[in-house]
Amino acid sequence: MGSKSITIPALSKIKVTTDEVDLGQDNAGDSQSSAVLLPQLHTKIPNVVNSKGNYLYTDDGLEILDATGGAAVACIGHNNPRVKAAIVDQLDKIEYCYSQFFTTPPVEKLSRYLTESTGGLMSRVFIVSSGTEAIEAAIKMARQYFTELPEPQLQRIRFIARKQSYHGNTMGALGTGSHVARRAIYEPMLSPHVSHVSACYPYRGKNDSESDASYVARLAQELEDEFQRVGPDTVCAFVAETVAGATLGAVPPVPGYFAAMKEVCTRHGALFILDEVMSGMGRTGTLHAWEQEGVTPDLQTVAKGLGAGYMPIGALLIGKKVVDVLDHGSGAFVHSQTYQGHALACAAAYEVQAIMQEEDLLANVREMGDYLGISLQQRLGSHPNVGDIRGRGLFWALEFVKDKEKKEPFPAKSQLAKRLQATGVQKEFCISLIPGNGTADGKDGDHIILAPAYNTTRAEIDTIVDRTEKVIKAVLG
Ligand SMILES: Cc1ncc(COP(=O)(O)O)c(C=O)c1O
Repeated sequence: MGSKSITIPALSKIKVTTDEVDLGQDNAGDSQSSAVLLPQLHTKIPNVVNSKGNYLYTDDGLEILDATGGAAVACIGHNNPRVKAAIVDQLDKIEYCYSQFFTTPPVEKLSRYLTESTGGLMSRVFIVSSGTEAIEAAIKMARQYFTELPEPQLQRIRFIARKQSYHGNTMGALGTGSHVARRAIYEPMLSPHVSHVSACYPYRGKNDSESDASYVARLAQELEDEFQRVGPDTVCAFVAETVAGATLGAVPPVPGYFAAMKEVCTRHGALFILDEVMSGMGRTGTLHAWEQEGVTPDLQTVAKGLGAGYMPIGALLIGKKVVDVLDHGSGAFVHSQTYQGHALACAAAYEVQAIMQEEDLLANVREMGDYLGISLQQRLGSHPNVGDIRGRGLFWALEFVKDKEKKEPFPAKSQLAKRLQATGVQKEFCISLIPGNGTADGKDGDHIILAPAYNTTRAEIDTIVDRTEKVIKAVLG
């Protein structure tokens, strides 16, 4: 047939330096020499070869302060000896077995911890490997709930989510969120059964003369109107990030917002889903961000702070009301994945949670979070391009504007947030920042997020604020 034979390289011949794989001699991470599909095919990114605490070390000798734990993930810092030992200990027993056939002590322990952390309000846990997978599971669980009610409601196929939201990147999760740029080319393929109402975004959404209460009433009315528009009995659930993260930039809800949203859902028999992939597991100062809102979700997703990056892990927490319906219905969730409930991931996450508890890290999140917020305000509040500084716990964002009075955003094409992030990792600054765009309306507008580890110190916060200020001044003047 004239087929060419390909010689598979011997793994032993792949070049290594000390204990790292050298992808291209002195050009590791370079688009020309890397076999990795880099985020920007033509842009070199730093090659991290080591880490300690909240610092990353690159192959060219930089010591980068990880002020964001990656994407708000590494919440107890890097290279933690206790978590490493827990992983090795579990490796000595069983690394993986198929969750359809077997359970294991780490998945049992982690799930028990999570349900007890909600006082039993969430009564079962479905452990997956990412935030996106947790959201996919939530969407499916919501649908299944309505198919198994004593009087099934098969017409419920719709979801209402919020503008400038992010819920992940598979087709179902992307179709739920509203990140305009990430959706754009896939738009024709995304679910037509999701619609979006305004986020709770006081900086741009609340009128100057409006009280929190009337702003909340207006948003509740908008949700009510959307239920009416699509047909209240066709909606499975309303989905929202408890503290809006990646697309909107660390925006806490105004008081009473979620209670009002849940009331609308309850009135129409729809479920209330909170996505705490970014804001949960301690990031905002309580283990669950909803604890500060006086509401309990029917379904809740968590991920980043659960395993702190030591292993990929996410989870769907399922409220008792939903579990009871399944219990009396088919008795099985119509969804599964090969790596669900991975033993090593669960062992790592359990140890992360033990460390957070034993070291009382949530108290530190609250204290250092307040200090970070005050410091950012003092140092950057009067910068002409810093329109808003907001956040909760160790989850803060700066929103940038061209004109502070008019709150005019920078256009998407200026790629401001991306430039701030890329500048941050240069050797003059050595700080990792999370960039976000589409802040103002899903398309234009920029923010950066700071999400230091829960064990950060005042001295480290001072360094974070110093370096962030320098980066902003270097890029914006
Ligand atoms: C609120 C929220 N949901 C879902 C996701 C998707 O999580 P992952 O990237 O782990 O799939 C993210 C990621 O940033 C997120 O912030």
